[in-house]
Amino acid sequence: MATNGHANGRLAGKVALVTGGAMGIGEAISRRFAREGASILIADTNEEAARAVAESLSSEGVEADYVVANVTSRSDWENIVAKIKSQFRARLDILVNNAGTAYPTQSSLTVSEANFDKVYSVNVKSIFHSVQTIFPLMIANQGGAVINISSIAAIRPRGRLTWYNSSKAAVSNASKALAHEFGAEGIRVNCACPVLVPTQLASNFVPGFDNTPEQHTKAAQLLQIPLGRVTTTEDVANTALWLASDESSFITGVDHHVDGGRSI
Ligand SMILES: NC(=O)c1ccc[n+]([C@@H]2O[C@H](COP(=O)([O-])OP(=O)(O)OC[C@H]3O[C@@H](n4cnc5c(N)ncnc54)[C@H](O)[C@@H]3O)[C@@H](O)[C@H]2O)c1
Repeated sequence: MATNGHANGRLAGKVALVTGGAMGIGEAISRRFAREGASILIADTNEEAARAVAESLSSEGVEADYVVANVTSRSDWENIVAKIKSQFRARLDILVNNAGTAYPTQSSLTVSEANFDKVYSVNVKSIFHSVQTIFPLMIANQGGAVINISSIAAIRPRGRLTWYNSSKAAVSNASKALAHEFGAEGIRVNCACPVLVPTQLASNFVPGFDNTPEQHTKAAQLLQIPLGRVTTTEDVANTALWLASDESSFITGVDHHVDGGRSI
């Protein structure tokens, strides 16, 4: 077992599972948590990218591994649990349900049934599976912190992305109900709600978004973000870190906006 070099970090001694941790926001969360002393298990469909992040963390002395998993599949969640039992001492302190998907912005008259099913399956059903497979582990360990990556679209939806927005509203709503249901078991459930973050997924939200500083400024103006920029992956990772750490031990059932004031 690799020894984690960050023994005094804000997540020292904790084990974290990050779905979709191979790229984008999930990668930033995995790396941020690792810097604060957490052991990291990445679950992602992209084996090559997941392996690269896990190996990079391991080379820095972090206990890290990955499992190829599609979060829509119950048997893949069971594989994740098996990995936690065999390689992480049956311990899971932090679950980040981050894996998510979207479809290109368009009229609600043209969204395909396949795209509707995909966003609800990846964004919402994944959380259903996580509850029935991961929560029993957390209950056995006297609790844990769950961070669901929702979106500001859950709170201030705009047209032409209706079913993505409503899938995130389901994430935020379910998170509150789960926080209520499992508070007595010591499980806290919170959401981080970013506005536009420059990742691969973002090109769905802003057509032609090409991840240059000029595009970020233009997008911030278009979205009327008071703080004048878009969300960075680090903004989300820092929020997830606080929600995962004991510093937020009395916080549960909240949508934490990470949007530079866009939702005011
Ligand atoms: N990028 C944005 O503008 C933005 C804004 C608000 C919320 N979000 C949310 O943040 C989360 C992360 O998005 P991102 O922008 O980093 O996306 P991304 O496309 O950059 O990365 C997503 C990661 O999830 C993995 N993944 C996708 N489907 C999966 C599945 N079925 N099973 C397992 N892994 C899967 C991908 O392989 C990838 O590693 C999503 O839930 C997204 O809805 C993103």
